[in-house]
Amino acid sequence: MGPCSSVSVLLCRSGRERTSEFEGYLKQDEKQPFIKRLSHKFRKRAKRFFEDISPSKRRIKKQWMTFDGIVFLFRLGIRSNDTVVDFGCGQGAYSIPASLLVGEEGRVFAVDRNPNILSKLKRAADRTGAKSITTLIGQDELIAKLNGSVCDFLLVFDVLHFFDVPERVALYDMARRILKPDGFLLIHPKHLKDDGMPSGHFVDMTAEDLVNELVSVGFVLEENKETMLWHDSDQEPGRVLKFRV
Ligand SMILES: C[S@@+](CC[C@H](N)C(=O)[O-])C[C@H]1O[C@@H](n2cnc3c(N)ncnc32)[C@H](O)[C@@H]1O
Repeated sequence: MGPCSSVSVLLCRSGRERTSEFEGYLKQDEKQPFIKRLSHKFRKRAKRFFEDISPSKRRIKKQWMTFDGIVFLFRLGIRSNDTVVDFGCGQGAYSIPASLLVGEEGRVFAVDRNPNILSKLKRAADRTGAKSITTLIGQDELIAKLNGSVCDFLLVFDVLHFFDVPERVALYDMARRILKPDGFLLIHPKHLKDDGMPSGHFVDMTAEDLVNELVSVGFVLEENKETMLWHDSDQEPGRVLKFRV
């Protein structure tokens, strides 16, 4: 039995669906030694578990979802009735406040490649009364669902480091297809070389390199905003790049 299948057996105890999620993680950074990857993922999962059950962490998260996150998105220009796509939405730290902000007349498309995460997002959305969210699995479902250039905002928060250059170019193409002519692409570029926690395809890239990459394919930088925002389980200082199509 290889190392991956032992992990599968181990994790089957806590739910069969988690096994495939975990194997997905392993594929993402298979360049790291197996033991290092394993301990990192277990520590991350344990941290998430304790955060999920900690009353103080839950309070902090609720404050973000139902107030601070809404103010944050309002300051970036999102308004009621807007159509927002949250690409790589995770558990909904941005989709849920976006939904509360755009209201029932607006629409939020929460897109992720991981169906288990989308199920958690739906449960959290029900708890907070966020009613305008449609969850979609991956880019293909999003394109199939949207009818042309209908989006006011495309959020790509803490996701781009997972993408290599051709994948980023495909994402920029998609942004141009789905955004209205006066729409905006908002990027929270986490894990760059210059932010202290480089990771994935961003280990050798700075924020300036990323801006240049987007400008080279025709986007116009409208704002480079330093702000508090949500990352993993709390608010922290970061930046949002706001581009015109
Ligand atoms: C670090 S989380 C960020 C979640 C959320 N945007 C936030 O800032 O809280 C990155 C998310 O992107 C998703 N993701 C990565 N690559 C993706 C892809 N190609 N298509 C859709 N989702 C993707 C992952 O499954 C994960 O949920």
